[in-house]
Amino acid sequence: MAQEDVFKKLVAHCKEYGYVFPSSEIYDGLSAVYDYGQYGVELKNNIKKYWWDSMVLLNDNIVGLDSAIFMHPTIWKASGHVDAFNDPLIDNKDSKKRYRADVLIEDHIAKIEDKISKEVEKARGRFGDAFDEKKFRETNPRVLANQVKVDELNTRYSKALNATDLAELKQIIIDNEIVCPISGTRNWTDVRQFNLMFSTEVGSTSEGTNKIYLRPETAQGIFVNFLNVLKTGRMKIPFGIAQIGKAFRNEIVARQFIFRMREFEQMEMQFFVQPGTELDWFAKWKETRMKWHQALGFGSENYRFHDHTKLAHYANAATDIEYKFPFGFKEVEGIHSRTDYDLKQHQQYSGKKMQYFDPEKGESYIPYDIETSIGVDRMFLQVLSAAYMEEELKKEDGSSDTRVVLRLPSFLAPVKLAVMPLIKKDGLPEIAEKIVHDLKFDFNCQYDDKDSIGRRYRRQDAIGTPYCITIDHQTLEDQSVTIRYRDSMEQERVGIGQLKDIIKEKVSIQSLLKKL
Ligand code: GAP
Repeated sequence: MAQEDVFKKLVAHCKEYGYVFPSSEIYDGLSAVYDYGQYGVELKNNIKKYWWDSMVLLNDNIVGLDSAIFMHPTIWKASGHVDAFNDPLIDNKDSKKRYRADVLIEDHIAKIEDKISKEVEKARGRFGDAFDEKKFRETNPRVLANQVKVDELNTRYSKALNATDLAELKQIIIDNEIVCPISGTRNWTDVRQFNLMFSTEVGSTSEGTNKIYLRPETAQGIFVNFLNVLKTGRMKIPFGIAQIGKAFRNEIVARQFIFRMREFEQMEMQFFVQPGTELDWFAKWKETRMKWHQALGFGSENYRFHDHTKLAHYANAATDIEYKFPFGFKEVEGIHSRTDYDLKQHQQYSGKKMQYFDPEKGESYIPYDIETSIGVDRMFLQVLSAAYMEEELKKEDGSSDTRVVLRLPSFLAPVKLAVMPLIKKDGLPEIAEKIVHDLKFDFNCQYDDKDSIGRRYRRQDAIGTPYCITIDHQTLEDQSVTIRYRDSMEQERVGIGQLKDIIKEKVSIQSLLKKL
């Protein structure tokens, strides 16, 4: 099945099974805003716990913070967001639709790359095992011509973007005959800068009002609390401050479901270090964060670093951790060596000394900062993209059936176990209810007695429940039940008394954290 179709199915699955709903759906929805349903909220909380524990629990020099969404407006002037947190926008005069100029160009480049891939795949089919992809790419005239186009376009585009040359961005669109996907015309306006921050006002009219912003990142809440945490936590460098919270961006091109939203959640950690040691720490955090992703067991080949060649003016190293989504390798997390830029800016704008006295060096300095920043929603989509499978099952009579299963790591699964009486009589439901009652203090359990046992298993597979416990007539005789494993679909007979220990071992976050 084409990857685009898999993704469409995943989006539909999220809605059908209570993971993610479009926001305000009964009013026809609100673009790029989503709500998390009964299973979605559990998965989201489990992802956040995995991140939080890996930061705050495992590192005695990292502490947490929960800063407010509203902050003093000067913070956003100091951070550079008021002046420079912009996207280049262009409007099509016929469709009246607005686009990000950079996205139009990137999509155009992707289309040419797609042509190359199709050419390669066609040749692979033709030549079979004898196919030498490298040689084909180096010699096929159509592939070569398209590759030249891609390389030239990339160079011209990066130059224009880095120089914020808006006229050149428009010229690239014109020269490459890029059309509006709605009207199909090339009737474009000039490219303009558009600030991504949402604003609102505080204060009553009699006192006058103040324009404030909804934070576009959680990071600034950490920087402006640097001194508070330093003093009250008696922190010694190197140390980190971790925070999970909502962020808001008026994204113009919001697409790919929860990949790019207007209201989303971030998990950010700022790690303050001695100047001059930052690149070592950057390398260390790169490795640590990649390990965190790969410990989930979705296959290391599906992750890669994308090191930035062009750096923001405040950074001296930056990389993205990318995951192979159904729509290609895309950023899940950013790791940046932000130098002393943010603390220095806040020192200048607030007039407060944002410094650390280093007892070993006997001097004060503004620490350098390594940032790890990951979107909760994007991580959620990454986990579901990796876990969603449609499997063909061979039946005993030779026919086949399909099942949709979410192969979620047990710790992340919203429901850990479903308890099912085989039939709704002979005292079996009462035993099942008692098991749920006894285990609900330890695990998220579900009681299910509707439909055939096969349909109940499928239902639990679809929401990713790793264990199903079935109560049958043998239970009445020897207090044993079957435990059915989601991934292998194998079943095992165990005593009711053993259930808690068996499941505890399998779903605990500890085994995941110990891999880090
Ligand atoms: N403090 C640094 C910062 O905010 P960023 O690359 O803009 O850096 C970090 O964002 C992470 O936040 C991204 O890697 C992504 O996971 C997530 N993110 C950013 N914009 C998002 C959006 N509009 N919707 C969902 N997640 C987003």
